[in-house]
Amino acid sequence: MPLGKLREMIGGPAPVPAFNVIQVEHAEAIAAAAEETGAPVVLQISQNAVRYHGSLRPIGAAALSVAAAAATPIAVHLDHATSEELVREAVELGFGSVMFDASALPHDENVARTAEVVRWCHEAGVGVEAELGEIGGKDGVHAPGARTDPDDAAAYVEATAVDFLAVAVGSSHAMLSRDAQLDFELIALLHKAVPVPLVLHGSSGVADENLAAAVRAGMWKINIATQLNKHFTASVRTALDDDPALVDPRRYLGAGREAVSAEVARLIRVLKG
Ligand code: G3H
Ligand code: ZN
Repeated sequence: MPLGKLREMIGGPAPVPAFNVIQVEHAEAIAAAAEETGAPVVLQISQNAVRYHGSLRPIGAAALSVAAAAATPIAVHLDHATSEELVREAVELGFGSVMFDASALPHDENVARTAEVVRWCHEAGVGVEAELGEIGGKDGVHAPGARTDPDDAAAYVEATAVDFLAVAVGSSHAMLSRDAQLDFELIALLHKAVPVPLVLHGSSGVADENLAAAVRAGMWKINIATQLNKHFTASVRTALDDDPALVDPRRYLGAGREAVSAEVARLIRVLKG
């Protein structure tokens, strides 16, 4: 059985940019930019976004519906799920791929639980991303020094049969400044050692030229969230400041959606190199 849309993108034009969706405006903005640039993209929904909405269904169904209507290939992916139950919900809702993030667990438990998730996800035709090396910043504590060892990564992929691997190479989640120092030599070694596509997390902290260099060194899926939220919020703030009498949410959310779309299109071009 084919393993989801993200798997189908392997072998296509690299890289595959993956953008986080918090509300439907994000999904609409990302899809519009994907159509404008003709690039395959991923709409991904994190466990934190699910927590914000109270359940996966409302935002998950919205993303699936936006993806289905798009004129370009768009994968819908669950991001940083630490709970098997949430993975099951995503599979049942029709997500083509998921990230099961057991990176904070002891190594043997990470391997055992991830291998089990992969087993039943593959039976359902769903691809699985996992993480080795615990990329920092998920809890607000930045740890750009974390690194994934190439031999450990190869052994982990063999033991779990994951389809995509997130690795720690110098980035950290939710950075507002774009000055993360990536270890390009390590990316190249990981690319050589690991038989599945590599995923860069915390990409908002990486400057444009280094994003393109990371792709050249071997990164395949590039996860971007905070950078879009910065543009969304700045544009909403301007719209509200410009007109204190504004009450219609469509006016400021629409401005946020346009700003996200422009930034997504720009980032897609940066990543294409
Ligand atoms: O999984 C999502 C990402 O790794 C996004 O990280 O907010 O630092 O871009 P970011
Ligand atoms: Zn991440």
